[in-house]
Amino acid sequence: MRLFVTGGSGFIGSAVVPELRGAGHEVVGLARSDASAAALADAGAEVLRGDLEDLDSLRRGAAESDGVVHLGFVHDFSDMSIGAAVDLKAIEVMGETLAGTGKPFVITTGTLLLALGDVGLAPGAFGTEEHVSRSAVMPRVTSENTAIALAEKDVRSAAIRLSPTVHGVGDHGFVPILIGIAREKGVSGFVGDGANRWPGVHRLDAARLFRLVVEGAPAGSRWHGVGDEGVPFRDIAAVIGRHLDVPVRSIPADEADAHFGFLGTLVQLDNPTSNALTRERLGWEPVEPGLLADLDEGHYFA
Ligand SMILES: NC(=O)c1ccc[n+]([C@@H]2O[C@H](COP(=O)([O-])OP(=O)(O)OC[C@H]3O[C@@H](n4cnc5c(N)ncnc54)[C@H](OP(=O)(O)O)[C@@H]3O)[C@@H](O)[C@H]2O)c1
Repeated sequence: MRLFVTGGSGFIGSAVVPELRGAGHEVVGLARSDASAAALADAGAEVLRGDLEDLDSLRRGAAESDGVVHLGFVHDFSDMSIGAAVDLKAIEVMGETLAGTGKPFVITTGTLLLALGDVGLAPGAFGTEEHVSRSAVMPRVTSENTAIALAEKDVRSAAIRLSPTVHGVGDHGFVPILIGIAREKGVSGFVGDGANRWPGVHRLDAARLFRLVVEGAPAGSRWHGVGDEGVPFRDIAAVIGRHLDVPVRSIPADEADAHFGFLGTLVQLDNPTSNALTRERLGWEPVEPGLLADLDEGHYFA
């Protein structure tokens, strides 16, 4: 297939592009800068200059392809609603372009919507690919549901819910931020007893999942980019503390925002997430190191 990829120069996209190329697909990558264009060209992709907010560039990329993999996202951690609004518009525009074609359209969301999106989970229960949020206040829920609804317009749409930590060399997501906080405060913290769980997935396993989904997932399907189904937060804090040689300590819930900043709420979430249906239906098996093993490889602390 000739696939239009947004975010192909990012942390995850830069693993997805070689994965797609390695399987024989052509890739056209959206680039908003010379640096991103050069990275995409080095990875063997054609470059389409544009921007997630330049809707004509998205229309063109989608129209001139056999399918779309959408990983681009404006990450402004101070206000996630900005990126979510751009994401929704981009999905609507590319979806309209693909309507009636039966072509695949893979978009990216997160498993955190299972913890925050009021999906009806009992406390401690694992979220599955079949849990759906209708929350109007969780920004990326609308993106996911908009993409899934495109199945009714003859788009082979699918959403991949990624774990809050997609880890590996080059990670610049939540885990490096937690390491920075531990370094700065001289303590590696968790909240309460730290038994709350985060799922995780290695970047290379995630990349393989994107390929399998764009190649064969049915229209209107949701998938879990989850390797570790739930790592207790106190275990994450313990590995960080050991590598930085700082104490590992419980932080009272009412001090979490002061300690963890914008991550204050997220570090308290219990987000156990099953990957059973994704593995069974797509034949996907995560084979790369899990989060704790990856942290122990040392590259996060170099
Ligand atoms: N990393 C994680 O742990 C994680 C966890 C859950 C979900 N996700 C989701 O997975 C997706 C990929 O994440 P990532 O970690 O690979 O992100 P990333 O490293 O920050 O990369 C973001 C990508 O989006 C592109 N982009 C940003 N703003 C753009 C704009 N205005 N126009 C065009 N392109 C733009 C960037 O291009 P430039 O190269 O030009 O900057 C880059 O290619 C995102 O939807 C993210 O929210 C990630």
